Amino acid sequence: MAAALACVALTGLVACVSSVSPSGEPWPAADLAPPSHADNPPTPVKIELGRRLFYDADLSWDGTVSCATCHEQKRGFTDPNKTRQGFDGAPGERNIQTLANVAWFNSLTWGGPHVDTLEHQALIPIEGFVPVEMGFGGKAEGALAQRLKGKACYPSLFRAAFPERNGELSIDTIVMALSVFQRELVSLDAPYDRYRRGEANAISAQAKRGAALFESKQCVSCHAGPHFTDAALPGRTPYEAFHMLAPPAAGKDAGLQRITQKAEDTGKFRTPGLRNVALSAPYMHNGEVATLPDAIRHHFAVAGKQSDPRLKQTLNDAEVADLIAFLEALTDQTFIKNPAFALPKPGCPVPEDDAKPSSAR
Ligand code: HEC
Ligand code: HEC
Repeated sequence: MAAALACVALTGLVACVSSVSPSGEPWPAADLAPPSHADNPPTPVKIELGRRLFYDADLSWDGTVSCATCHEQKRGFTDPNKTRQGFDGAPGERNIQTLANVAWFNSLTWGGPHVDTLEHQALIPIEGFVPVEMGFGGKAEGALAQRLKGKACYPSLFRAAFPERNGELSIDTIVMALSVFQRELVSLDAPYDRYRRGEANAISAQAKRGAALFESKQCVSCHAGPHFTDAALPGRTPYEAFHMLAPPAAGKDAGLQRITQKAEDTGKFRTPGLRNVALSAPYMHNGEVATLPDAIRHHFAVAGKQSDPRLKQTLNDAEVADLIAFLEALTDQTFIKNPAFALPKPGCPVPEDDAKPSSAR
């Protein structure tokens, strides 16, 4: 009995040591569950359906582009282009964003304080006109649902994933499945995470100096918390995560101002998360910054033209190098290589014969 108690106490001590950082703040475990939405709870089959949809080019009008074409797992769910041409050949305007830990973000995209759920966001690439990304331009409800109904596996998968809706295959259930898959995209196993959970040697001495600079230079006030963005801080409004690093050139993307029409919002963009940022070049909302050192320097390039005191600092080359070592320690190989997030294997994950035709169909 005494031995069992000691063991419990010891286990408690070990758990406590491994979940508390050197500075004493709690850091989440690698398997922290993403927040789920009560009206769209995750189930294994719904997540699998979402993954199939994410990798399916039939979600674009001409069958050439899937979500994964732009959001590649090996690059932290981004692609190497500055921006990507729209489906219709129109020049893209914004850099593709990483999808790591999006479940926690209170707004989505570089400039969408009103885009507050993944369910809402997923409609933008499929249906959107500006830019035309996947080309359905408002016609997805009929055309896309009809197309998927005629494909192998989907009718049975929708029946298994949405029994309460009689297996409804519609734009609603398509975005619901995409959203539960994206909420699974949790990246919390980078070397820096292991360091914060108590593994003292998980990162280099240089990365440790970079981590200290990340705090002292106040990077952490915008790239805050375990998801490295103030858009994932509890209790904040979406607008609080928008900041201007450099005023836009005339006629260029005005960011938040486009939505609010307020002059003071010109050039403000939502703080991006920095997980796997070493894999996601080029940088910034327009992809105009090619390298990580330049991405860091870009913050301070126009000090004087903007009022935020956090952006009026100076950084020497050694400090930039230390910060890069820190940012590289945010590369999470477990996430990049997780087979559960990769292209699904061919074949149906649920037997097609077992799926009962729904009375609603
Ligand atoms: C043609 C390339 C392209 C395709 C295809 C595409 N995206 Fe994106 N994605 C982008 C770009 C560019 C942004 C940034 C958009 C902006 O800020 O206006 C983005 C942003 C996002 C975000 C916001 C991430 C954040 O940090 O706020 C999510 C979520 C997302 N995409 C999911 C999807 C899903 C789901 C699909 C498939 C239905 C998809 N994307 C298809 C290019 C693409
Ligand atoms: C005042 C808030 C704020 C502070 C302080 C701040 N950042 Fe940023 N950071 C942003 C915003 C906003 C963007 C995106 C700006 C854009 O696209 O125009 C960004 C972009 C980045 C990017 C590019 C990410 C990508 O995916 O394109 C990196 C890297 C980065 N910041 C690192 C840092 C480092 C390191 C520091 C400290 C030296 C720092 N930031 C301080 C708000 C901030």
